Amino acid sequence: MNFTGVSGQLQFDLEKNLIQPAYDVLNIGGTGFRKIGYWSNSSGLSTTEPETLYGKSFNTSTRTPHLYSVIWPGETIATPRGWVFPNNGRPLRIAVPERVSYKDFVSKDKSPPGVRGYCIDIFEAAINLLPYPVPRTYMLYGDGKRNPQYTDLVGQVALNNFDAAVGDVTITTNRTRMVDFTQPYMESGLVVVVPVKQVKSNPWAFLKPFTIEMWLVTGAFFLLVGVVVWILEHRINHEFRGPPREQLMTIFWFSFSTMFFSHRENTVSTLGRLVLIIWLFVVLIINSSYTASLTSILTVQQLTSRIEGIDSLISSNDPIGVQDGSFSWKYLVNELNIAESRLVTLKTMEDYIKALQDGPKRGGVAAIVDELPYIELFMSATKCAFRTVGQEFTKSGWGFAFQRDSPLAVDLSTAILQLSENGDLQKIHNKWLRSSECSMQLNEMDADRLSLTSFWGLFLICGIACFIALAVFFCRILLQYRRFSPETVEGDVEEIELPPRSGRRSLRTASFKNLMDFVDKKEIEIKHMLKRKSSDNKQEASPSSDGKSHSPS
Ligand code: SER
Repeated sequence: MNFTGVSGQLQFDLEKNLIQPAYDVLNIGGTGFRKIGYWSNSSGLSTTEPETLYGKSFNTSTRTPHLYSVIWPGETIATPRGWVFPNNGRPLRIAVPERVSYKDFVSKDKSPPGVRGYCIDIFEAAINLLPYPVPRTYMLYGDGKRNPQYTDLVGQVALNNFDAAVGDVTITTNRTRMVDFTQPYMESGLVVVVPVKQVKSNPWAFLKPFTIEMWLVTGAFFLLVGVVVWILEHRINHEFRGPPREQLMTIFWFSFSTMFFSHRENTVSTLGRLVLIIWLFVVLIINSSYTASLTSILTVQQLTSRIEGIDSLISSNDPIGVQDGSFSWKYLVNELNIAESRLVTLKTMEDYIKALQDGPKRGGVAAIVDELPYIELFMSATKCAFRTVGQEFTKSGWGFAFQRDSPLAVDLSTAILQLSENGDLQKIHNKWLRSSECSMQLNEMDADRLSLTSFWGLFLICGIACFIALAVFFCRILLQYRRFSPETVEGDVEEIELPPRSGRRSLRTASFKNLMDFVDKKEIEIKHMLKRKSSDNKQEASPSSDGKSHSPS
């Protein structure tokens, strides 16, 4: 068919398809409509009439569809995100605790929406991830003079005075019986905080890096190495020779000056050098460990209270500080059976500082029990003057509270998980909260002391080196000594004449003395004597006819 109708040219092909089909795109709203563009096979969605485009070539894959704006019901050009959260036509009433301390978590704000803080940012980010809008109004809960009772706030949601509670609300068993919580967006748990002070200067602090055994063993090794090096050097090094008193001094001076690598005596024997180099390595390690340990001991802080964790806090009778409005009061009384008379409510951070500094004797508290997120802020604000002791003794989290069976609790849980997975939760955390730079735990002073356990490997290596060096040294001496016949040690060595009935004992004493004299001799002299002896032997042997040599092997 091919004819001109009221709408213009109409033509079908053999397969009964319209040739060059084109349509108007209409935006129908209420009783009227607007033309917002056209669609044709060749041009796709476009604001230009298809007839004007016929014959022109298009790259349809790269062209973005373009139409005039759609006006949605409600005279808005913002594309709706789906159905609106049905709340009988009124916005959600969201209760926000009006905090007076730790306002970074949530607090009143002069500009809309009237509240600000870490929890609000997280809630807003989660709401924006929902596939539908949630009209909401924030309503402050509390008198602005002290933190509200959070459990009462949750109760108000259960009583339908609010639709939700958004803030640093801890998920506790009691509260989950009244309302539905979302997944936790912040980890939390109760910790014990106590004051610390710098360790007092101690004139004997320099002894603290090592335990007593470590000092004794180190001292003994200094002497041992001194003696071993002296033995190994004595025969060949004139610096290790001289009158006995002088040599004793050399041993002491040499061994202790290795502590600072400042020994002036030269070591010339290979064995002596071997022992010394291993010992200097040991000294290097001991020196650097001593320096490191002393530094940490002098800068470490020490606890001033005897509280070491929640157990010692429970067993003491000292007052305990808790945050005003927090669930921790009830938790300490009901779960840990702490007398109510021991609990002191602290309203602001200044109260925290004063109570801890005053201590139990001056009307303060021995420790504060509060949740970790607050304490991290507290510690970084007070420049690490306070520390936590023991472990976090409860594990919980903060969540948003909704009325029972609210679909929002489920959807927001998904949104919170999404925020956590894409890293936004951490970004919001970094924006509002500083992580405390204080190390959370304190080391015991004794734990810093270096004991023999950390070093016995080094001492063992050094001891083995000394032993091997001495063994090699004495083997060589004995070999040399055997080349002399004991009764004919010549030259400077006294000739020993054994009385015929002197017996075995005196024989042994005499040969030991002989050996000692031999050891005491300079090696060069011994070698000289050996040479002389062997040439004498050769002379004696040459006139004899059997040609046998009498020199010792
Ligand atoms: N997070 C506390 C609570 O929910 C308030 O400090 O009780």
